[in-house]
Amino acid sequence: MALDNEILRTIRNRRSTRKFSNKQITPEQLDTLLEAAIWAPSGSNSQSWKFTAIQNPEVLQKLNELVRSGFLERYEPDDDYPGKKFAKNAAANESYNFYYHAPTFIIASNVGGYANAIADCALGLENVFLAAESLGLGSCYINQLHWLENDAPVREYLETLDIPRDHVICASASIGYIAATSNALERKPGTVNIIR
Ligand SMILES: Cc1cc2nc3c(=O)[nH]c(=O)nc-3n(C[C@H](O)[C@H](O)[C@H](O)COP(=O)(O)O)c2cc1C
Repeated sequence: MALDNEILRTIRNRRSTRKFSNKQITPEQLDTLLEAAIWAPSGSNSQSWKFTAIQNPEVLQKLNELVRSGFLERYEPDDDYPGKKFAKNAAANESYNFYYHAPTFIIASNVGGYANAIADCALGLENVFLAAESLGLGSCYINQLHWLENDAPVREYLETLDIPRDHVICASASIGYIAATSNALERKPGTVNIIR
């Protein structure tokens, strides 16, 4: 029988949100989420990550256009993960929006060649997701920018947002108020093992 407390409830209740309201989160909420990100553990205490939060609608729209054209015109998905093909196909839709029209979008990047780059950034974003849940906000892990991190037009634009050229784009997160809740997907059995 699992124990229960506020943090454990936050962990259990967090869901990936894919429909956000237009209402922007407050500066205090954004600061809180970013502070949660940088309190994550990092390999050898590297803290070499960068969390870039975007709230400017024109910037987000431009990024969406570049991601859409990147998928449609330049991206060749590998067979290693079905989500890649799905992402490319989804971009064919005129109303495509890879970040689900979230009013706040956070990009986690890290130094290229650093072995813990994705691990550190993912831990930072999980802190963001849990902090968002605790503040009554929705969140979703977004992988599209990671897949397009070597797409020249996307990369050039990210550089104008001060994301260093020598960084890898590890992951990103959509954040905002929840317009439609997601059902909890059942957790698969047999994925934990206890050896006593
Ligand atoms: C590495 C990773 C990549 C993901 N990429 C996406 C994504 O690009 N778009 C999306 O809508 N959800 C994405 N998700 C969210 C998962 O689909 C989601 O966590 C899973 O379906 C379980 O649902 P839950 O988060 O509500 O528990 C990603 C999650 C992880 C951990």
